[in-house]
Amino acid sequence: MRIGVLTSGGDCPGLNAVIRSVVHRGVVDHGDEIIGFEDGWRGFLEGHHRPLTLDSVSGILAQGGTILGSSRVQPSHLRDGVERAKQYCADLGLDAVIPIGGEGTLKAAKLMSDAGLPIVGVPKTIDNDIACTDVTFGFDTAVSVATEALDRLKTTAESHQRVMVVEVMGRHTGWIALNAGMAAGAHAIVVPERPFHIEKLTDVVRERFDRQKKFAIVVCAEGAKPEPGSMHWEEGTKDIYGHERFTGIATQLSRELEHRLGKEARPVILGHTQRGGTPTAYDRVLATRFGWHAVEAVHKGAFGHITALQGTAINLVPLGEAVAELKTVPADRYLEAETVI
Ligand code: F6P
Repeated sequence: MRIGVLTSGGDCPGLNAVIRSVVHRGVVDHGDEIIGFEDGWRGFLEGHHRPLTLDSVSGILAQGGTILGSSRVQPSHLRDGVERAKQYCADLGLDAVIPIGGEGTLKAAKLMSDAGLPIVGVPKTIDNDIACTDVTFGFDTAVSVATEALDRLKTTAESHQRVMVVEVMGRHTGWIALNAGMAAGAHAIVVPERPFHIEKLTDVVRERFDRQKKFAIVVCAEGAKPEPGSMHWEEGTKDIYGHERFTGIATQLSRELEHRLGKEARPVILGHTQRGGTPTAYDRVLATRFGWHAVEAVHKGAFGHITALQGTAINLVPLGEAVAELKTVPADRYLEAETVI
């Protein structure tokens, strides 16, 4: 079979492990021809592609980023984009396309699949917010990076008796904030699923200083917001693709906490460090399994699905189910975190 593969949307540790796995499973076990498209769907629509061989994926398992490059271009956002994609698919004689992407990419993939493109999606995001899969690769790496940063920040915070307000990624959901906060023993965790009340948050930090503790760590997801009207709040703007550009919750929150507590507070924005560098062993394994199962799905003709981790098994889930809603942090997970902080 002739199978196209591309990486689309924000990059994520483990993308190269998926690409490598698709090539190994396809070429070695099935005798497939694998075509890699550059910069996501942009390369697909502009005809930028190259054959992927065992040689071209040699040594990439542990590499961060994506050897194919990525972009946020989605054919379904362009005029005639889906029709053009179908035409290119036919012109190139592709039997299947495996887009590796997050929420936006999978939504676009569903539209294209509905239009008749033979698609098997592989979910990726450090945010871990794709429904139907217990975990997405990249998440474990992001949590590890954030946890290490939080551990490091404790010593400097203690030396200066400061409050550190640490912003982690998570546009719509607080999975990274929750898990890194729990792993590092943060003193407060702020997530988009639960608008925070500034007075209650201030009390949590104040009580800690009242117990003669010398510092406090507050972890917040970038997309978290205060309860309306509870404090002055500057909303973000939108980027050219309509994604929210956050104004920096860490900056706004640290300023407010410093003012209310009379203690020095510092904002720390971990940003793209959480997406860079080598994937953890867990993410390499999950990404490799997703690639393997995506090729199997293609050979079974199970188009219009994504690979998903459910328990310990990799199952196929219809694209429609996968993109129906985001996987948010449930109340009981947040309660557990509150109990230990
Ligand atoms: O969706 C993954 C993510 O890392 C979000 O958490 C974050 O808001 C966004 O990507 C940042 O995207 P960009 O690389 O376009 O700034």
